[in-house]
Amino acid sequence: IGNLSNLISLFLQGNKLSGFIPSEIGLLRSLKDLDLSNNNLIGSIPTSIGNLSNLVTLFVHSNKLNGSIPQDIHLLSSLSVLALSNNNLSGIIPHSLGKLGSLTALYLRNNSLSGSIPYSIGNLSKLDTLDLHSNQLFGSIPREVGFLRSLFALDSSNNKLTGSIPTSIGNLVNLTTLHISKNQLSGSIPQEVGWLKSLDKLDLSDNKITGSIPASIGNLGNLTVLYLSDNKINGSIPPEMRHLTRLRSLELSENHLTGQLPHEICLGGVLENFTAEGNHLTGSIPKSLRNCTSLFRVRLERNQLAGNITEDFGIYPNLLFIDLSYNKLYGELSHKWGQCNSLTSLKISNNNISGMIPHQLGEATKLEQLDLSSNHLVGEIPKELGMLKSLFNLVIDNNKLSGNIPLEFGNLSDLVHLNLASNHLSGPIPQQVRNFRKLLSLNLSNNKFGESIPAEIGNVITLESLDLCQNMLTGEIPQQLGELQSLETLNLSHNNLSGTIPPTFDDLRGLTSINISYNQLEGPLPNLKAFRDAPFEALRNNKGLCGNITGLEACNTGKKKGNKFFLLIILLILSIPLLSFISYGIYFLRRMVRSRKINSREVATHQDLFAIWGHDGEMLYEHIIEGTEDFNSKNCIGTGGYGTVYKAELPTGRVVAVKKLHSTQDGEMADLKAFKSEIHALAEIRHRNIVKLYGFCSCSENSFLVYEFMEKGSLRNILSNKDEAIEFDWVLRLNVVKGMAEALSYMHHDCSPPLIHRDISSNNVLLDSEYVAHVSDFGTARLLKSDSSNWTSFAGTFGYIAPELAYGPKVDNKTDVYSFGVVTLETIFGKHPGELISSLFSSASSSSSSPSTVYHLLLNEEIDQRLSPPMNQVAEEVVVAVKLALACLHANPQSRPTMRQVCQALSTPWPPLSKPFSMITLGELLGHGGETT
Ligand SMILES: *[C@@H]1O[C@H](CO)[C@@H](O)[C@H](O)[C@H]1NC(C)=O
Ligand SMILES: *[C@@H]1O[C@H](CO)[C@@H](O)[C@H](O)[C@H]1NC(C)=O
Ligand SMILES: *[C@@H]1O[C@H](CO)[C@@H](O)[C@H](O)[C@H]1NC(C)=O
Ligand SMILES: *[C@@H]1O[C@H](CO)[C@@H](O)[C@H](O)[C@H]1NC(C)=O
Repeated sequence: IGNLSNLISLFLQGNKLSGFIPSEIGLLRSLKDLDLSNNNLIGSIPTSIGNLSNLVTLFVHSNKLNGSIPQDIHLLSSLSVLALSNNNLSGIIPHSLGKLGSLTALYLRNNSLSGSIPYSIGNLSKLDTLDLHSNQLFGSIPREVGFLRSLFALDSSNNKLTGSIPTSIGNLVNLTTLHISKNQLSGSIPQEVGWLKSLDKLDLSDNKITGSIPASIGNLGNLTVLYLSDNKINGSIPPEMRHLTRLRSLELSENHLTGQLPHEICLGGVLENFTAEGNHLTGSIPKSLRNCTSLFRVRLERNQLAGNITEDFGIYPNLLFIDLSYNKLYGELSHKWGQCNSLTSLKISNNNISGMIPHQLGEATKLEQLDLSSNHLVGEIPKELGMLKSLFNLVIDNNKLSGNIPLEFGNLSDLVHLNLASNHLSGPIPQQVRNFRKLLSLNLSNNKFGESIPAEIGNVITLESLDLCQNMLTGEIPQQLGELQSLETLNLSHNNLSGTIPPTFDDLRGLTSINISYNQLEGPLPNLKAFRDAPFEALRNNKGLCGNITGLEACNTGKKKGNKFFLLIILLILSIPLLSFISYGIYFLRRMVRSRKINSREVATHQDLFAIWGHDGEMLYEHIIEGTEDFNSKNCIGTGGYGTVYKAELPTGRVVAVKKLHSTQDGEMADLKAFKSEIHALAEIRHRNIVKLYGFCSCSENSFLVYEFMEKGSLRNILSNKDEAIEFDWVLRLNVVKGMAEALSYMHHDCSPPLIHRDISSNNVLLDSEYVAHVSDFGTARLLKSDSSNWTSFAGTFGYIAPELAYGPKVDNKTDVYSFGVVTLETIFGKHPGELISSLFSSASSSSSSPSTVYHLLLNEEIDQRLSPPMNQVAEEVVVAVKLALACLHANPQSRPTMRQVCQALSTPWPPLSKPFSMITLGELLGHGGETT
């Protein structure tokens, strides 16, 4: 390439170029524009680049370049744009960079550059964009930055910068974007910030900024986004903020702010997102908020806001999430909340609210979370709450509610947490609890519930925590409680329960904590760790419990056994002749049965249990055994949850995959007929994206399934192998996502009866030689689910199981949707998203967490870094796929799309991106479905 000495432009961006940039590039002395971006180039930028003195634009971003920025870069005296973002560059930003007097844009984002920002940067008087986001820069922001009068956008967020914000920043009058969040900046916000009249977005969040908000901030009339959260800012919110009439997003949370909220907030009527939680704000909620119909998300929890809540709030058609908990609001709840048609979360716990729960709340049908705990609410629980079909958290404990639990609660089949503790509720616990098919915790403690515990509670097999203590429950503990195999904590103390602990309790192997004290119970304790380890306090004051525990009497089993034994001997002596006759009879019968069993097994080995359907009858048992060389490990191509997979070549040359099942338990093959008919049905499914099941064989020595063979193996294998992952480009990956979606949509919506997979993971999405996805093991997760009395075994793979069902065998097609979301993210991120999922959705479960930082993660940084970032239409498709995947991970199964909807969304034309791919954050892709929006 060095010979092309007259070359003016060299554009090689967006290819798959790898290897080093040849130093001969320095011979192209006429070159003006060089674009090598979006390739897989490695090594460092050659110093010879300094010879290209005519260069105007240099784009080498989005490669895998390492080493430091060459010193000689300052020789490129005509350079206007220098883009080095998205590489692994280390070392410092060379001081000599300040000599590039023509530079208008400097992009160094997403590297590992360290050292401080050189003050010589102040010489770049034509610079309009300075992007230093996500590096390791330390030291303070040099005051010389203030000389960059042309600067339009400055982003140095996510570094390790210290010191205070220089006052000279006020000179940057053209600045529209100033992002310096996620550093360790201290000192106060200089009042000169108020001179930045063009500013549109100001983000100073997540630093150590002290002092108060300067009143001059009111001059920034163009501001649409202002983030000051997670600092140590004190003083009050300046009233001048009312001039920020274009503000759409204002975050002041987690500071030390005092005084009142600004009275004239939302003057422009465009405020959507307003957070100030975790401060010391006092006074009442400003009246101006009442008419702020643009509101979308409000978080004011953990302050000392007071005032009459009846008057403070209006009707907000767009409001999705509001948290006012831990304040001092009083008065009654307004019935207007029922008219907030978009509301999914209403949290007003720990205030001083009185009166009744307005029955109109039942009209806010999108409501998913209602938390009114720790107030002074009275009256009955309105039966209209039973209309809130999407509700998954209902927390109204610690009030003065009375009356019965409305029977209409039986409609709330999506409930995950129900807490009615510490009220004055009475009556029986309704049988309708059986409808709570997703409930994880039920707390009815400290009320006046009477009668006996309904046996129907045994239907709530997802239950992990059950607290019924301090009530007036009578009768025996229903034996159905033993069906709650996910139960971890059980508190029945301070009731009037009698009788013995049912023997079914022996099945509660997940139990870790129990309390049955202060009842009338008697008899032996179950042989469970939770009881053996229980302190005496948890068992005391009963009628006659016994067991091997300090404080309890040992069970007197020996004596009783002795009595029985004695009786038996007498009987024996009296009936020896009869007995010997009977026992001979039994022996004879047994022999007969056994010999018949052996016979039937012999027959079965050869015909009955052999059920393989080749198109041409080529697949005989012997051929499979030969093809795998009697399951020789050298033909092993993988292991799955239920068995080991072998490759077998049949005499005809056809290659199949044979999954040899782990040793089978007798129980699961019991209903062989039903099993065979289901295998038959599965084997008849023909879909491009589903691995064909040819048949099944169960014999005394071997049980195996025979499948279509997939050349490329599992998605997991490909993603975990660097070379293969690089081959597996964005277009192929998006096709795999579509293929998976097609397969699941077909099984869920086009099959009769619909089939649920139950165990979608990257392990059982297989790829053929063309990288077309084929979902394997459809239906077999259920067929092969081992003995269900073993509580530790559930269908599904850890890391892919929908949260609501991790411990419960109740499965519907939304479980598959969740797993599909995980595998889609895994395909695009190149690795299992792991903790990311829980962190992204974490603020859905805890009201106290500040906006999570994962929310601000850039998509561009999360996608598989082994590939160069997607461009143009492919980038748009990646965004759509990630967006859909996140929708599939919604904590509430009902809010997840169906697989059919996913397919439709994946096949409709993509909207063009509203901003550059590299600037899209994960939070933005969460859409309006999650409250963290
Ligand atoms: C840069 O990458 C090359 C090629 O991958 C490697 O050989 C070299 O050690 C790396 N250098 C540094 C400083 O990391
Ligand atoms: C709160 O305001 C409502 C409506 O103005 C009023 O009826 C009620 O008495 C007030 N409550 C308190 C405790 O001041
Ligand atoms: C709560 O409100 C009642 C009146 O409804 C009042 O008497 C009481 O002092 C308030 N408590 C607190 C802690 O504000
Ligand atoms: C059960 O309830 C009692 C009485 O309210 C309480 O002291 C105890 O901490 C509770 N135990 C458990 C395990 O929840």
